[in-house]
Amino acid sequence: MQPLRGRRLLLGITGGIAAYKAAELARLLVKDGAEVQVVMTRAAEAFIGTMTLQAITGRPVREALFDAQHEAAMGHIELARWAELVIVAPATADFLAHAAAGMAHDLLSTLCLATTAPLVVAPAMNQAMWRHAATQANVALLQSRGVSLLGPDEGAQACGDVGPGRMLEPVEIQRAVRARFADGRLSGRKVLLTAGPTREALDPVRFLGNRSSGKMGFALATALVAEGASVTLVAGPVSLPTPAGVERIDVESALQMREAVFTSVPGTAIFIACAAVADFRPAAAAEQKIKKTSETLALELIRNPDILSEVAALPQRPFCVGFAAETDDVEAYAQAKLRAKRLDMIAANRVGASRGFEVDDNALLVIWEGGQQSLPTQPKSRLAAQLVNLIVDRFDAQTAAENT
Ligand code: C5P
Repeated sequence: MQPLRGRRLLLGITGGIAAYKAAELARLLVKDGAEVQVVMTRAAEAFIGTMTLQAITGRPVREALFDAQHEAAMGHIELARWAELVIVAPATADFLAHAAAGMAHDLLSTLCLATTAPLVVAPAMNQAMWRHAATQANVALLQSRGVSLLGPDEGAQACGDVGPGRMLEPVEIQRAVRARFADGRLSGRKVLLTAGPTREALDPVRFLGNRSSGKMGFALATALVAEGASVTLVAGPVSLPTPAGVERIDVESALQMREAVFTSVPGTAIFIACAAVADFRPAAAAEQKIKKTSETLALELIRNPDILSEVAALPQRPFCVGFAAETDDVEAYAQAKLRAKRLDMIAANRVGASRGFEVDDNALLVIWEGGQQSLPTQPKSRLAAQLVNLIVDRFDAQTAAENT
């Protein structure tokens, strides 16, 4: 299988320690059948040799903007037109700053400006540099212009720090590139999903929350991208890296989640509500920290809106999938919820001591009008792929029925 056969990819490598991983990325893309033209910045050459990349891609690496020999073969504007996709991995803070400013001071920045091909960047830098307001502003500006961000990941860094700023693994970047060209079952479809817990503020430092880890929702987002969907993930507070190719909106409370969902829902084909949304929130969050002045404290809670029910009640509603986490009588409660919320499908699981939340394995009972299927205990990543298959089966069947 060569999912990128004949695709013309321009791989930009900038000067960070993660540059050594770019050789592996080039190898994976070539193995997928792509034609890969590497462009390196001068700083990148301090980290990895051009000969390595030339040997892997079978093409001389381009470095200089004004190189008479290369310009004679394929000028930089021609190269910008040649590319179907530009991938910059690793993308340093400096590269992002130059790209955001629209500068054309070397071959790579010039190509990024001259090309009409989509640009995807996989940032890699020290965690403080990534968190810096300047970098965040540059990234936000690039994203607002349609640049796709892959990562960064969190974890141990070459400099000894721990935090966000690691380049995504080459295989993750390969997956995202494949997804861009894939004719998946959900190509051209927009899928919106919620994941993780919500936090309902009691005062400036305390909140009501729950044990949802967000793992199932994030695994679903990855599986949806693999099917070619364009995925928006509204995530409550979780410590998980953003899956490659996913647009993520971070929220805290149920009300913020609702707002983000309603902003994103137009044009959505499938809505999957995987979040463990708090049913209640404090009637009013105290403005100051609550003091322990009495032996008891009564909290007044009010109901949160049911985001899923509200989306399912829209006149132009997407295909709606809900989750039901139950401690007992799973099937009966799930059936009742399917009807009460007027869902197209519900995925139910038993939760309790070490089941469902915060664990890597899970099992699901998936129910829809007129059918059901059990998905046995397995890693959430595999379970997610199977659930996505079931969702697409039902979605396709419903779309076909509506069109006849
Ligand atoms: O009613 P219950 O909370 O068990 O329903 C669970 C399903 O409804 C999940 O899919 C969850 O994401 C969704 N939900 C929601 N908004 C709420 C409560 C639940 O979207 N306020």
